Amino acid sequence: MDFKLSEEHLMIQQAARDFAKTELLPGVIERDEKQEFPAEQIKKMGELGFMGMMVSPEYGGSGMDTVAYALAMEEISKVDASASVVMSVNNSLVCWGLETFGTEEQKQKYLTKLATGEKLGAFCLSEPEAGSDATSQKTTAVDKGDHYVLNGTKNWITNGGTADVYLVIAHTHPEKGHHGINALIVEKGMEGFEIGPKEQKMGIRGSDTHSLMFTDVKVPKENRIGEDGFGFKFAMKTLAGGRIGIASQALGIASGAYELAKEYSKVRKAFGKEIYKHQAIAFKLADMHTQIEAARHLVLKAAWDKDTGENYDLSGAMAKLYASQVAMDVTTEAVQVHGGNGYVKEYHVERLMRDAKITQIYEGTSEIQKIVISRGIMKD
Ligand code: CAA
Ligand code: FAD
Repeated sequence: MDFKLSEEHLMIQQAARDFAKTELLPGVIERDEKQEFPAEQIKKMGELGFMGMMVSPEYGGSGMDTVAYALAMEEISKVDASASVVMSVNNSLVCWGLETFGTEEQKQKYLTKLATGEKLGAFCLSEPEAGSDATSQKTTAVDKGDHYVLNGTKNWITNGGTADVYLVIAHTHPEKGHHGINALIVEKGMEGFEIGPKEQKMGIRGSDTHSLMFTDVKVPKENRIGEDGFGFKFAMKTLAGGRIGIASQALGIASGAYELAKEYSKVRKAFGKEIYKHQAIAFKLADMHTQIEAARHLVLKAAWDKDTGENYDLSGAMAKLYASQVAMDVTTEAVQVHGGNGYVKEYHVERLMRDAKITQIYEGTSEIQKIVISRGIMKD
C-alpha cells in the first residue's frame, strides 16, 4: 500500500489549486449573486487541459487518470463549485461516455472539440416525471430508418443553455422497457430543439440549468451511441464514473469550508483568546478534519478502482454518499465557526453551504446511492 501521491499527481493538484486561486476566486461571489456562467474561466480551463482530463491525447485530451481528475475536481470545488460541475459533466459524463462507447466518427467529430473545451457538453437523462426512477422516462426516439425522430422534455440539465453537444437518453422501443432505450448525440440548433429558461437555484448558481424541449427533432442514425437498446446501460455506466466526480466536488466544497474555518479560528478572538483555543471550536475542527480525511480516502479509492480496472459501481456510490454528507456537515459547522460573519457573503462559507446541498441530489440522490450500495453488497 502507498498513500503518497505521485509527483505528477502533486503537480496537477498544485496547478488546479493555483488556477482556482488566481482565476476563480476573484469574482466568485459576484457570479453567484448574478447567476453568471463562468465563461472566461471555463475557456481557460479548456486551454489548461481541465475539460478533457481523462481523454486520450489522440482525441485532444490530457490523457490523465481518474485520480488526477479527482484531485483537480477537489481543488476547483474548494473555490467554485459552479465551475466544477461544468467541468464534471463535460469530463465524466460527456467525454468519458463518447470515448468509451462512441464510434471513431463520433469521436473525431465531437470528442476532439469537447476534450479541448472548444465545445461544451451536456448529459440529458432526467425528466419532469422521471428523476430517480430513470427508466420511466417519456422522451421517445422513433426509428425512421436513417434517422430518429425525437420528442419529449428533459429537466434540470446542467450546461443546458451553454452546451453545444447534448447526449440525450430516449425510448425507442417502450415495450422493451430499459432494453429499448437509446442514447443520441443532439446538436444545439437542430430544428425543433428548444432551450427553456434558466432555473433560479439555491446553490451552484454560476452553472446554468435548463429544461430542454424536443419537438420532432431529426437525429441522424449515426448519432446513436452503441447498439440499438444500449442507452440505459450507457447512462448507468457513465453515471457510475460521474459519481466519483461529484464525490470529489463534495470533498472540495467540504475542504474549502474547513480551511476557511481553520484560518478564521486563528484570528478571531473571544473571551480574551483566539476562538480555536476554546475546546468547543477545536473539537469542531477536529471532527471536520477527520470527516474530510475519511471522505478523501473513499474518493481516491473509487478513482483508483476505476484506474486499475476494478469494479467502481459500489466504491463510487459510497464515496458520493459519504462525501456529500460530509460536505453538508462541514459547511454548516464552518458557518458556525464564523459566527455572524459566516452568514454574510464575503466570508464564502455561506455559499459553500448552499453549494453543498446539490451534491446529495444530482447524479443520483443519497437514497439512490444507498439502493446501489445495498444491491452491490448483496451481490458480493
Ligand atoms: N452498469 C451497467 N449496467 C447497470 C448499472 C451499472 N452501473 N446499473 C444498472 N445497470 C443495468 C442493470 O443491470 C439492468 O440491466 P439488465 O436488466 O440487463 O440486467 C438495468 O440497468 C436496469 O437496472 P435496475 O433494474 O437496477 O433499474 P432500476 O429501475 O431499479 O433503477 C437505479 C436503478 C440505480 C435506481 C437507476 O435508475 C438510477 O441510477 N437512478 C438515478 C438516476 C441518476 O443518477 N440521474 C442522474 C442524472 S445526471 C445528473 O444528475 C448530472 C448532474 O447533476 C450534473
Ligand atoms: P425524485 O426522483 O422525485 O425524488 C424525490 C425524493 O424521493 C428524493 O429524496 C429521492 O431520493 C426519493 N426517492 C425516489 N425514489 C426513491 C426510492 N426508490 N427509494 C427511496 N427514496 C426514493 N439530470 C440530468 O439528467 N442531467 C443533468 O445535467 C442534471 N443536472 C442537474 C442539476 C441540478 C442543479 C439539479 C437540481 C438536478 C440536475 N439533474 C440533472 C437532475 C437530478 O439528477 C435529479 O434531480 C435527481 O436524480 C433526483 O430526481 P428528482 O428530482 O426527480 O427527484
